[in-house]
Amino acid sequence: MEYNFDEIINREGTACVKYDFKKKQYGSEDILPMWVADMDFKTPDFIIDAIKKRAEHPVLGYSFHPDSFYESVMAWLQKRHGWTVAKEWLRFSPGIVPALNMCVRALTSPGDKIIVQPPVYFPFFSAISENQRIIVENPLLLKNRRFYMDYNNLEQIIDDKVKMIFLCSPHNPGGMVWSKEELIKLAVICQRHNILILSDEIHSDLVFNPYKHIPMALISDLVAQCTITCIAPSKTFNTAGLFTSVLIIPDETLRLKYTVQLEKLHIGWGNIFGTIAFEAAYKYGELWLEQLLDYLKNNIDFVIDYCKTYIPKIKVMKPEATYLLWLDFSVFGIEDDKLRDILLNDAKLDLSHGPIFGTGGMGFQRMNIACPRSILAEAMNRLNKVFGK
Ligand SMILES: Cc1ncc(COP(=O)(O)O)c(C=O)c1O
Repeated sequence: MEYNFDEIINREGTACVKYDFKKKQYGSEDILPMWVADMDFKTPDFIIDAIKKRAEHPVLGYSFHPDSFYESVMAWLQKRHGWTVAKEWLRFSPGIVPALNMCVRALTSPGDKIIVQPPVYFPFFSAISENQRIIVENPLLLKNRRFYMDYNNLEQIIDDKVKMIFLCSPHNPGGMVWSKEELIKLAVICQRHNILILSDEIHSDLVFNPYKHIPMALISDLVAQCTITCIAPSKTFNTAGLFTSVLIIPDETLRLKYTVQLEKLHIGWGNIFGTIAFEAAYKYGELWLEQLLDYLKNNIDFVIDYCKTYIPKIKVMKPEATYLLWLDFSVFGIEDDKLRDILLNDAKLDLSHGPIFGTGGMGFQRMNIACPRSILAEAMNRLNKVFGK
């Protein structure tokens, strides 16, 4: 079956954050939103059909996660990432950002230090600071348009108060797929200092050939024991509104602590449609995903070629994974708030503002390219009018 990613779907009037919510804020109808990380493609038919089928039953009372829910993700991890996980390692979370917050609360104490490697997905920062823990930054190093982890600096900033590190793997906003060597180096340091690794692997299925995602917990059994991995089908299959994700916690003590947190909040059962969609995605998603990856890769190449030809001053970091492009506007020398004004008011584009990703984000903007090519072409034309040669 051939899926049509060129089809334009009107999302307006669905209370969606990307179009409807933002429109209220802009006070303007004509801004193209290329920011929040969901896709403008149809959620695949096998997910919609599974939801419809369940909706035919007239009772929507409390439901739990059946064995088939867990088995679907176990089979997926085995097939896609060569990772054999035991069913008892799996725990539900209503979204990954809530999971990050719960893990911080369950596995560290107020006043503890947690390391982040900016520029990085910005809810990492609030998950630490809003839970009264202390953010310690190990900024990524930018070399030849790729980010690298700074192991020397990491060793220097670690002290007895550091209890956890947040890893974004693959990385948002840079799109790096961390190599085995990179992960091993990080894991060795974390083990030496007894630091838990909270590995957010939500983008791990959106990896482009020839790159290969390696789950941090696969580095070794010892590393698995100090790693909590967060995954979800929500980015991959465009089901972010269903808030259904899973944590993989091989260590029993850590798992118990997390479970207590989940139960305290009474959010462990999830919702019926999230459960149904999750299972359908992991059971039937492979063919759709392969076609999606092709389309996204072509979208990325389209932007890179477009910039080379028409807007060479904007430098694009070529992602190894996911649909977020990290664009370097620094050569224009425009102060960040002014740059945002120009993008919104002159180019009529809403990108994710670089500085919100923390240190290293200044002068950058993140662009979501998971949309039909015709919309992407419109966005690039708008950029060209304002920033072109
Ligand atoms: C790295 C990363 N983690 C988590 C999320 C959001 O996850 P959720 O919607 O499940 O909270 C995103 C969304 O963009 C993300 O990029």
